[in-house]
Amino acid sequence: MNNIKACIFDLDGVIVDTAVYHYKAWRRLANTMGFDFTEQQNEQLKGVSRVRSLQLILGWGGVTKTEAEQEQLATQKNIWYTEMINQMTPAEILPGAREFVESCRQAGLKTALGSASKNSMTILDKLDITHLFDAIIDGNKVSKAKPDPEVFLKGAQELGIEPQYCVVFEDAIAGVEAAKAGGMKAVGIGDPELLHEANLVVSGLNKVTVEQLEMLP
Ligand code: G6P
Ligand code: MG
Repeated sequence: MNNIKACIFDLDGVIVDTAVYHYKAWRRLANTMGFDFTEQQNEQLKGVSRVRSLQLILGWGGVTKTEAEQEQLATQKNIWYTEMINQMTPAEILPGAREFVESCRQAGLKTALGSASKNSMTILDKLDITHLFDAIIDGNKVSKAKPDPEVFLKGAQELGIEPQYCVVFEDAIAGVEAAKAGGMKAVGIGDPELLHEANLVVSGLNKVTVEQLEMLP
């Protein structure tokens, strides 16, 4: 491998499907305020920070809250969310994800996590895969949300690899944009139409090989 020296993985939607838990917790919160939102609207929350997600949801419900109230609401959502993720087991790792990260490492590539989630460490621990990453950059370590490239640039820096030798794996449009803005290659996980800015789009990490990374356009 010459063109690619490191792989940086988003967590939610790439390694594990936590979107269902985020949705359940946000919905429960919306319901307490007397409204609901659809699964389609939930799509817009992927890759979006906790505070920004709450603001979008409040907007959908036509509800206005002070900053202090927003903080309280976000905390409540996170309590419900962490109750669910604390029950997670390694069986919830998405198909092929663990194997793909392992094969990257076997091929001599560095691996990092680049996630907006402040709960990343808990999730990695529950899935028993913390040791598979040379660097972990989560929501506690960044101040700018995707599509700002900060999370991935910090990952590359911690790995000691220049951005042009990194490939990012992302399920969110903002995440693919962040990778490109950072001068990295991107493999989209999901819908090729939505993630058209990526160099390659696959349905999951079970559908990509380490050899393919060297041939990304
Ligand atoms: C990821 C998810 C988002 C979530 C964000 C923050 O990007 O895709 O849906 O809002 O992380 O997660 P947190 O666990 O910190 O609330
Ligand atoms: Mg994601």
